[in-house]
Amino acid sequence: MSRMPRREFLKHSAMYAVCVSVIPPLSYGETDKELVVDPCKTTADILGPVYRAHAPFRSDVIPPGVNLPILNVSGTIVGKDCRTPLAGAIIEIWHADEKGDYDNDSPAYNYRARWKVDQTGIYAFRTNFPGRYLNGDTYRPRHIHLRVSGKGHRELISQLYFKDDPYIETDPWASRPEAMQRILTLSQVKTDEYSVVFDVHLTA
Ligand SMILES: [Fe+2]
Repeated sequence: MSRMPRREFLKHSAMYAVCVSVIPPLSYGETDKELVVDPCKTTADILGPVYRAHAPFRSDVIPPGVNLPILNVSGTIVGKDCRTPLAGAIIEIWHADEKGDYDNDSPAYNYRARWKVDQTGIYAFRTNFPGRYLNGDTYRPRHIHLRVSGKGHRELISQLYFKDDPYIETDPWASRPEAMQRILTLSQVKTDEYSVVFDVHLTA
């Protein structure tokens, strides 16, 4: 695995700013500043600089020989009517390892995977917890990157976060109001095994 040099990361951080600026603004309520979140639309987040195409199709993302707490990530991909599973949709995830490093070049594509859903729309990945890495002077919270596409729908690029992560507040992206729907509560399944459920709503 290789770690992105700081200079390279900062260069890509500037690219982040460009990405963020093209995300459409969210609407606010008339009477107060309460954010109106559309439950039928999963909000977007930045792609980040370490996306790799051609990740393998697999449900078990844990590299061979790794014995760390398990994180199950599952949900249903739903289409623009907000309820019908979107058969044939593809969901892709990638995240850092426990040290905060991404696999940017190995043929193993560690902690990178795709899944094509059937008519149930259900996806399920079995992985480990992402580590944190520095972004400037502060750590990015633990996060999983997502890319989801389905026929007749707009591609979604986003990220998942975890409740009570102390670095959410200082993160430029996790702290945005539209990220709230993607800050997930962990359920403990058994010793050293946890799960989160996240349904993805694509739009036209
Ligand atoms: Fe990341």
